[in-house]
Amino acid sequence: GPKTKVWVFEGDLITGDKEALQASKGSYLGPTIKVRKGQKIRIRFQNNIPEETIVHWHGMHVPAEDDGHPQDVIHSGETYIYEYEVMNRAGTYWYHPHPHGRTGPQVYNGLAGLLLVTDEEEQQLNLPKGEFDRPVVIQDRSFDEDNQLVYIQSRMDSMRGFLGDKILINGNAEKVLNLKSGCAYRLRLLNGSNSRIYKLAWEDGSPITVIGIDGSLLSAPKELPYLMLGPAKRADVWLDLSDKPEGIRLTMKNESFPLEVMSGGMMMEGGETSLPQGSEYEVFTVKTTSSGSNEYSLPQQLVKSNYIDPSTAENLNNPRQFSFAMDHMDWTINGRTWQTTGVVDEETVKLGSTEVWELINSSAMMGNDSGGGMMGDGGMMGGDEGMMSGGDMMGNMMQMPHPVHIHQVQFNILERDVSDVDSQLWEAVKEGFINDGWQDTVLLLPGMKARVIMEFKDFKGLFVYHCHNLEHEDMGMMRNFKIT
Ligand code: C2O
Ligand code: CU
Ligand code: CU
Repeated sequence: GPKTKVWVFEGDLITGDKEALQASKGSYLGPTIKVRKGQKIRIRFQNNIPEETIVHWHGMHVPAEDDGHPQDVIHSGETYIYEYEVMNRAGTYWYHPHPHGRTGPQVYNGLAGLLLVTDEEEQQLNLPKGEFDRPVVIQDRSFDEDNQLVYIQSRMDSMRGFLGDKILINGNAEKVLNLKSGCAYRLRLLNGSNSRIYKLAWEDGSPITVIGIDGSLLSAPKELPYLMLGPAKRADVWLDLSDKPEGIRLTMKNESFPLEVMSGGMMMEGGETSLPQGSEYEVFTVKTTSSGSNEYSLPQQLVKSNYIDPSTAENLNNPRQFSFAMDHMDWTINGRTWQTTGVVDEETVKLGSTEVWELINSSAMMGNDSGGGMMGDGGMMGGDEGMMSGGDMMGNMMQMPHPVHIHQVQFNILERDVSDVDSQLWEAVKEGFINDGWQDTVLLLPGMKARVIMEFKDFKGLFVYHCHNLEHEDMGMMRNFKIT
């Protein structure tokens, strides 16, 4: 595989259970940290990269000082101690840096790893463990002739979000999972890409069986023809190889969806990639290289969901609205951009409250009058002028998806309103979303609105919510919210 010039977390990443720290062989990713709910963990993070950074535990419910807020960055050579009790449900979480303006390049250069939480409820299910519980971290990268990582090449790359031309699995270009025929597996999928969205499907046409998402198992397994996985999203997938012979190959591919067309005009200025968003390509391949006997069967019921009762929300019929949009070449939330400690009233919530937030991608609100076509002849594309002006580019940029993430909480998705989503796009992706489970990131397609419900409990302080397209985040599509 390619030799990569990467940054790694050095120093101690100490969990309560040292044995659980696995050295990640042959990969630039950080170690997979395994913890149990109720466990108190202490992690000494030493910054050995030549710039400021701080680690964020994505999806975890932790005190403000342990959340990796951008204001808590430490200098090169400094140390930050995290100490917190694991309060989350069993799920697939991850960690990555969170300095404002540099999260994209730092994650790209290798700073990310999995944080797996287990709890009693999960233990009782007897799900695949050990070698049958496999991480599948999906990332896209580009390499130069010397096999060194190449990041942003043009202004287009940074406006749209980085798209690499190679898919890597678990930090490795080989993309092959060697598994045992006859066995069942739990695959922990993480889309750790900066901005790429996946529409994952088994090449042989069999459905994808999802058992977990972000911060929880589902209440019951769900079979999907394909799975949409936006940046930062996790999905635990059940893979049963019990009737597969030794020596087979099973490929997970990306199916096409018409999203790149919308930003097609932006392919000028050298923003080109040989692997456009929404094109067809192989993501990884499962190979059965030996055989074993199966110890696991898929439970028909997984966990008690105990979802938040919407009637307990103070603002069910009047949710806070947060609108993600481009405004004068700035990525904004309700017209505002990042301020280190800045927070306004509409971003201030009460400890102990239950709230509904409506997250809005206002991309497709404009330019739809000419017959609903985002790609309408000439409409947004500047048509007959033959060259793109700033305004045209803005128009195209406004068609961007925004994967929106809220720190500190796991929420339930009440509703996805797609009435303003391009119907061709929606038709191509609509069966790939999951509303069940506890989630922390929601992929907002252009025009989509999602209503999420969450409780603010245990910890006061300043936390962030943002677009998890890491280039958008770095350019300011991130804001504080304050729990008082
Ligand atoms: Cu995965 Cu604010 O981050
Ligand atoms: Cu996070
Ligand atoms: Cu975005």
